[in-house]
Amino acid sequence: MTATELPPSLIPTLPGSSYTDPLVFALEQEKIFERMWFCAVRASDVDRPGRFQTVQVGRESVLVSRSRDGGVKAFLNICRHRGARLCTEESGEVKRAFQCPYHAWTYGLDGKLIAAPNLTSMPDIDRTAYGLLPVHVREWLGYVWVCLAEEPPSFEDHVVAAATERLGDAAAIERYQVGELAVGRRIRYEVKANWKLIVENFMECYHCATIHPELTEVLPEFADGYAAQYYVGHGAEFAGEVRGFTVDGSEGADRIPTISEDQDRRYYAITVKPQVFINLVPDHVIVHRMYPLAADHTVVDCDWLFLPGVVESGHDVSRSVELFHRVNVQDFEACERCQPAMDSRAYRSGGVLVPSEHHIAAFHEWVGDQLRG
Ligand code: FES
Ligand SMILES: [Fe+2]
Repeated sequence: MTATELPPSLIPTLPGSSYTDPLVFALEQEKIFERMWFCAVRASDVDRPGRFQTVQVGRESVLVSRSRDGGVKAFLNICRHRGARLCTEESGEVKRAFQCPYHAWTYGLDGKLIAAPNLTSMPDIDRTAYGLLPVHVREWLGYVWVCLAEEPPSFEDHVVAAATERLGDAAAIERYQVGELAVGRRIRYEVKANWKLIVENFMECYHCATIHPELTEVLPEFADGYAAQYYVGHGAEFAGEVRGFTVDGSEGADRIPTISEDQDRRYYAITVKPQVFINLVPDHVIVHRMYPLAADHTVVDCDWLFLPGVVESGHDVSRSVELFHRVNVQDFEACERCQPAMDSRAYRSGGVLVPSEHHIAAFHEWVGDQLRG
């Protein structure tokens, strides 16, 4: 070891350009977001045939809808005629078919080309060859996950395994019945920061004592700065006087009845690479979906999910929502504070990770492996 090498308690981060270079971002879109399973929409947002949502996945717009047989379908949101974007709205509902606003080619909910002006006078056209291009779909935890790869990676090994590895038990996440919960609140955050800064921030708790006063009141071990959430099977315990995972420690909503004793009064966080965070507490589940739109721009949709009865009864969930909403705002402000500096000469060769952040290096390695792959 030479004198100029970093001491072992500090290890390097990625260089600043990884967070700002449009070429790096384009490569991430191609090799990460367009290859891996991507959490696209809440299934209940496409609960009837014809209801649809459009989402940006890598460089593509993807149309997610429900067909007549009740199954969820996803397609590239591109008309096969001259390439117009088929659905321009972020969400909506059609009766029977999607009609292109340009020359009115019309596609069934299953993606088949069913009509086009003068189609009968073009008898040589094989309609089946001009349907919308399908995208792979899976449903898990009540979300529709899509994959643009021709051969998708194993959903079990890449998505489900993240929860199993983190919680140490395949059944642990099932006990929260995430697929059955209802959306009590959704907040969209426009974050002027690179998606990797958001992931890195979520993975560490070194910042918790500095920027999360409300969260560390509820979860005192977070004040120590160690990412307790990343020890396999360990959930951060609520403070003794706290009654619920709320902004003031007051009672929350009805507890999810199927969770185990050791899941009660604890908070678990899971990162599902590349763009999902799952937060589990006894009475609700918070799911973050990131949509990376540019090297310095990420949209984050955050859902607060409660038992359906809680939402239907009109129970006031605002104190539950407020706690993690504040955490989100505090986290995203921190990421936005870092983003402009990524371009500075001061950060040309990056910064450092302290020991409680060392696991972030594994994320950096993972990103590097994907980009080289
Ligand atoms: S581009 Fe869609 S019908 Fe012509
Ligand atoms: Fe945080």
